[in-house]
Amino acid sequence: MWSPIKTALLVLSPLIPSALIPNFDKHSSNGTYDGPFTDGGVWSKAFEHAKEVTKHLSLEEKVNLTTAVTGPCQANSGGVPRLDIPGLCFNDGPSGPRYTDFVTQWPSEFTAAASFDRELIEGRARRIGKEFRGKGINVELGPVTGGPLGRSAVRPYAGRNWEAFTPDPYLSSTLSFLTVRGMQQSGLITCAKHYILYEQEPVCDGPLDDEGGRTGCEDISSEVDDKTMKELYLPSFAETVRAGTGAVMCSYNKINGTAACESNDALNRVLKEELGFRGFDFGATHSTVASALNGMDMELPGEYFYGQRLLQAINKGSIPESRLDDMVQRILTPWYASQQHTNYPRINYQKYDLSDSKEVNGHVWTNEHVDVRKDNAIYARKVAAESTVLLKNSGVLPLRGIRRIGVFGTDADYPSTLSGCGPDLFCLVGSKRRYWNGTVTIGGGSGAAYADYIAAPIEAMSLRARQSGIRVDHVLQNDPAHYGSMAWIAYQSEVCLVFVSLFLVEGWDREHLRLDKKGEDLIKHVEKNCAGEVVVVMHAGGQVIVEDWIDLPKIGAVLFAGYPGQETGNALVDILWGDVNPSAKLPFTMGKKAEDWPKNNIVRDMGKGHYPVSKFTEGLAIDYKWFDKHDINPRFEFGYGLSYTNFELSGFDIAEMYEKDQDSIQRTNERFKGERGLYDTLYVARVNVTNVGKVAGAEVVQLYMSFPKSEKDQPPKHLRGYGKKYLEVGQTTTISFPLRKKDLSIWDVKQQLWKIPHGTFTFRVGTSSRSLPLKLEVDIQTYY
Ligand SMILES: *[C@@H]1O[C@H](CO)[C@@H](O)[C@H](O)[C@H]1NC(C)=O
Ligand SMILES: *[C@@H]1O[C@H](CO)[C@@H](O)[C@H](O)[C@H]1NC(C)=O
Ligand SMILES: *[C@@H]1O[C@H](CO)[C@@H](O)[C@H](O)[C@H]1NC(C)=O
Ligand SMILES: *[C@@H]1O[C@H](CO)[C@@H](O)[C@H](O)[C@H]1NC(C)=O
Ligand SMILES: *[C@@H]1O[C@H](CO)[C@@H](O)[C@H](O)[C@H]1NC(C)=O
Repeated sequence: MWSPIKTALLVLSPLIPSALIPNFDKHSSNGTYDGPFTDGGVWSKAFEHAKEVTKHLSLEEKVNLTTAVTGPCQANSGGVPRLDIPGLCFNDGPSGPRYTDFVTQWPSEFTAAASFDRELIEGRARRIGKEFRGKGINVELGPVTGGPLGRSAVRPYAGRNWEAFTPDPYLSSTLSFLTVRGMQQSGLITCAKHYILYEQEPVCDGPLDDEGGRTGCEDISSEVDDKTMKELYLPSFAETVRAGTGAVMCSYNKINGTAACESNDALNRVLKEELGFRGFDFGATHSTVASALNGMDMELPGEYFYGQRLLQAINKGSIPESRLDDMVQRILTPWYASQQHTNYPRINYQKYDLSDSKEVNGHVWTNEHVDVRKDNAIYARKVAAESTVLLKNSGVLPLRGIRRIGVFGTDADYPSTLSGCGPDLFCLVGSKRRYWNGTVTIGGGSGAAYADYIAAPIEAMSLRARQSGIRVDHVLQNDPAHYGSMAWIAYQSEVCLVFVSLFLVEGWDREHLRLDKKGEDLIKHVEKNCAGEVVVVMHAGGQVIVEDWIDLPKIGAVLFAGYPGQETGNALVDILWGDVNPSAKLPFTMGKKAEDWPKNNIVRDMGKGHYPVSKFTEGLAIDYKWFDKHDINPRFEFGYGLSYTNFELSGFDIAEMYEKDQDSIQRTNERFKGERGLYDTLYVARVNVTNVGKVAGAEVVQLYMSFPKSEKDQPPKHLRGYGKKYLEVGQTTTISFPLRKKDLSIWDVKQQLWKIPHGTFTFRVGTSSRSLPLKLEVDIQTYY
């Protein structure tokens, strides 16, 4: 969550006189505050409890609840010892608990997204939630639900895209909902982040500091029109609110020139009024009065602008006490609602610290190093295997009938240790950041998770090969100094497995779309010398250009394994030997060259003494929608992925079928036209899928929708449904795609509401965004 740069920025930011705070809106002009106030929504009992307790708190106690204190966790908020209200314990992150031991390093979100498997994603979330709970962490700093969304069709260079699910808002929305619901089932409070439009890192033009941190950094201002915000960037957050997320983290960027954490538009108007968010919000603080009045409820990780300064502002009348009460109620309500006040494990770890006990501010915190993993390794292996995308296959996979394999590249080896890479996994070597040896299982920064072991590809492959009597030779290097021995081994190998990677780190946007450590050269060298076919395994956090090598004659198979977490090698072996039939699909588009995306990828211009500005001029057309709209042929389209078997689709139909919203945990206040609720189902599309190949396997069937032609600003098509089913050879099943009112709606900027446009909708179904054999048209003229 907090890299050293950001903390440094916070500490060094001079106090801005309140008269100069931008966007000093109606709420703060005369020291009054007229909401939005929380009413708890479905948490009404918890809210009444919080309200009652608030009445008995002193000003100091109320302020304490909104302010960071020193404690054992990555961040800690203050409590009220007099009433037995402890502060909250916060810890990263989206792929498992960071800064502690005996936990699982899970496949990252963007990797798990490739499974397109709702049940698996919710199962992953439930298990991660229990690991956090087991350590006594109250609030997880995750999941990443759309900040970044991954404007990757436009900016495949973003250094944090791998932390989030996918640039497709429908897929991201469904996975965000399930992840929040799954994680909170254990009583944990999730924090959907980063709210919002956080699509690139700060721009820096200073030298690296002593610790390799970047200096001279400025936050970028994201400028996005209202329609794009509502239809593309907001839906995933709406789903997390609907799933009842207790917390939201506002982001480090500016929005229309105002810091995201003091944007009245983003926090009060959109998050709290329109989405009806009833929990608390915290994030990058830049002020006291503007932050409090514009919607920031808590300040972490240190006390900079809240604490004493908040107390003074209240005493002076710049912030009314009603606002402080609302902040307190927003913090206490999810805590009571999730029953953390009655039945929650005590904090049982300390950030970075392996000692068994530690005194902080007179309190002794003990650490029993509880093992919270249970059988999660088995599940993590399953998620990783189900998320490995088979991009190319001549038939060389699954491996069979061979006696000699050669393994090449440092990415097959055991990885750098934690100590070599620092606790944040920023992996500094001299002044070089992002330098990772061995296999890449996760990226660096707040999205990283700690592993207690890594099942390296070489380990898992050696064990599996031994069982089948296969000889394994290897040169686990990328350096051309080893090319001689590689050629010698490749020349004797019936199959050559080349491992390449791309290690991405928070704080560092990419400068190019190539692999690390000259991976392309390694592949070409092995391909030239291999006696048999080459299998390329990629561990990468996003788009890689593969044009240099993918069509070379001996490249038999290519696997994109993302960042699969600690079970990497075991999951890979399952796929290579065919114990698991690959079924994952790319959750983003792989283009052929940098020019396939709009120019000026990441804004690197400091903005001439002002601040850097990123205009999202492509609007809704990111990722596959950009490629579709501009008729660009990608190398591999969104939704693409091969299997060891084949499937056929038949009997596509669509029918009206009304079903009231069943799964909203909290209701949103989004405005819409017509009687039916925004999350009610109006239609169901159905299609049959048959396994017509020779082995059992799962297929991900995808439904895409085109709006009526009258909607001229819409990209050609949008994902609006997906279903994954495992089928025996010859088996047929029916996949249903419920279509909710929101799925058929556009945001009407003039009327400020969601509505279904009248006209002919086109639906296509298939097995990738460009393989859509069946089509239906539906004329909609009704206001639902
Ligand atoms: C403060 O401003 C708000 C919004 O302009 C207005 O509704 C309210 O009446 C004002 N209150 C006072 C005390 O002037
Ligand atoms: C603020 O919270 C901390 C941590 O719970 C506690 O030690 C401290 O006494 C609290 N201060 C007040 C004024 O209640
Ligand atoms: C930012 O400004 C644009 C253009 O004026 C506007 O359409 C949009 O709604 C603003 N964004 C927010 C979050 O207020
Ligand atoms: C990676 O390997 C290089 C070359 O052997 C070495 O200099 C460097 O320290 C290693 N880095 C880490 C993080 O282990
Ligand atoms: C679809 O498959 C089901 C069996 O799952 C079968 O009963 C039905 O007739 C099939 N429909 C079409 C249109 O093929």
